[in-house]
Amino acid sequence: FSPDRIRNFSIIAHIDHGKSTLADRLLEYTGTISRSADNKQVLDKLQVERERGITVKAQTASLIYQYQDTTYLLNLIDTPGHVDFSYEVSRSLSACQGVVLLVDANQGVQAQTVANFYLAFERDLVIIPVLNKIDLKGARPDEVCQQMESLFDIGKSDILQISAKLGTGIDLVLKAIIERLPCPQADRNAPLKALIFDSWYDKWRGAISSIALIDGTIKKGTKIKSNYTGKVYEVQETGIMYPNEQETNTLYAGQVGYLICGMKMTKEAQIGDTIYQDMVPVKSLPGFKPAKPMVFAGIYPVDQSEYSALRSAIEKLLLNDSSVSVNIDSSAALGQGWRLGFLGLLHMDVFSQRLEQEYDASVIITSPNVPYKVKIIGAKNIKQYKGEEITILNPSHFPDPSIISECSEPVVLSTIITPDSYMGSVTSLFLSRRGQLKDQLYIDNKRIMFKVVFPLNEIIVDFFDELKSITSGYASFDYEDYGYESANLVKVDFALNGLIVDELAMICHSSKVLENSKRVVAKLKEAIPRQLFEIAIQAKLSSKILVRDTIKAYRKDVLAKCYGGDITRKMKLLRQQAEGKKKMKRYGNVDVPKDAFISVLKK
Ligand code: GTP
Repeated sequence: FSPDRIRNFSIIAHIDHGKSTLADRLLEYTGTISRSADNKQVLDKLQVERERGITVKAQTASLIYQYQDTTYLLNLIDTPGHVDFSYEVSRSLSACQGVVLLVDANQGVQAQTVANFYLAFERDLVIIPVLNKIDLKGARPDEVCQQMESLFDIGKSDILQISAKLGTGIDLVLKAIIERLPCPQADRNAPLKALIFDSWYDKWRGAISSIALIDGTIKKGTKIKSNYTGKVYEVQETGIMYPNEQETNTLYAGQVGYLICGMKMTKEAQIGDTIYQDMVPVKSLPGFKPAKPMVFAGIYPVDQSEYSALRSAIEKLLLNDSSVSVNIDSSAALGQGWRLGFLGLLHMDVFSQRLEQEYDASVIITSPNVPYKVKIIGAKNIKQYKGEEITILNPSHFPDPSIISECSEPVVLSTIITPDSYMGSVTSLFLSRRGQLKDQLYIDNKRIMFKVVFPLNEIIVDFFDELKSITSGYASFDYEDYGYESANLVKVDFALNGLIVDELAMICHSSKVLENSKRVVAKLKEAIPRQLFEIAIQAKLSSKILVRDTIKAYRKDVLAKCYGGDITRKMKLLRQQAEGKKKMKRYGNVDVPKDAFISVLKK
């Protein structure tokens, strides 16, 4: 296929607007897969994806389509469907010349539609607007067209109306892709230049990359070099996804395909990296950045005897997911474990769900936190601090306030779209989460869009659920990285009978200190069983006690229900009680069951 007969495109949509369904229909219509009931979402390959109905890992497929006497190669470049993966979305888009912007004709434009539109618009990609689900009784095509016109300046006559479910209008989508999208600007005779826009792990063959060939050709035996790592590899196999790997001799400029070259881990195949022929360097493609974890959490086996099994499961998953960062961690209460960094909350959920589903591991995940930056006064003279600014991933490592000159926290710019009848409650929700309103506008006569800057920490736990619940599910939410902002942060410690418990340490904004401390103290009070003596629970800010509560003394008499009875039965009950005690952790003289920690630390 010469470049003029190639079209590279993505489908971008808000979650559930029908991207996977449309992809399946395109594959069927072009004969790439046969029409059958089993075809439900061929491209969503992970079990979690099928269960949750979301795309986590992008999958790409090539389609061959005959249109007016000419045969075209259409490369459908799938994108992950969630904010956590917006960097991957933007990389996938770099491999395209255009996008199908899919909008549910009933729900209309949602937060992710807006975010995705701008990703494509900023890249000067041609946008094919498509209304999906027009078969639905509640479809409101006119209103949604009006939203698209006012927000994106898209004329009604350019908007296609389809039903991916019923398969109506699929030919119109293919026609628009061929007629409206430009072909890739590609030069087969120039030196090799290719973009890695996705990678995954295969047990037998190592890392497999999806690549878009910008210039040149690539085939078995070509010596290639990664611009990011500087490592050289020999190409073992190339081909196209049709829809699974199908080997071809050579990939040419303008094409999209896969590459196997002896990379052992997906970490070597960084998304966004440029590869070129060894000894023939080219200017790398702009915009590359290594994946940056923003949400950190401790992960521990429920039972320490499963430690090594869990380690090997995590190692296997990491082979496939280069964006997770790992550090070994240990906790007096939870034992040996790890501190893992994720792109976002969904990424974390997906990872733990895969551990459970694919490796049958039972794990405890601690409440997540974000990376804070702290500037240290006179860091040069303090041995443990290498630089003036340090990043804190674990709250118990927060330095003493007397040596801190400034703290900052990661913030995000979010888009919230809601029916205006919920305006009041949405506003109070974002104010309670320290959100700063940047902009607001009506996208049609009853829907409003807010642009709000949030501290990331305020939205990583239960924000989305709360937003959904106060708006009866009508609001949508999306966010992008917005750097760091200076903030008044403090560390709160928790003590049991005067002894500080490290893993309960919490970093929070000064305005939230009391509220958060009260919550943790109440949880501890509920979770720690009464003991033979009184237990004082305290929340402390430096030496100041913020909140205090006590658990009254009590003796659990395990023999109470044993009237008379024989001695062996009594011994057995006492032995069981002793066993139970072993599972407790001692803090000073206080016994704390592991479950109590879990209930406080868990998200
Ligand atoms: P993500 O992968 O999470 O982004 O979701 P998606 O956009 O791929 O959505 P998906 O294709 O999974 O469709 C979501 C739901 O909408 C499914 O239950 C589909 O059956 C349904 N759906 C998709 N297209 C249509 C349509 O044209 N009409 C109707 N009535 N339902 C549709």
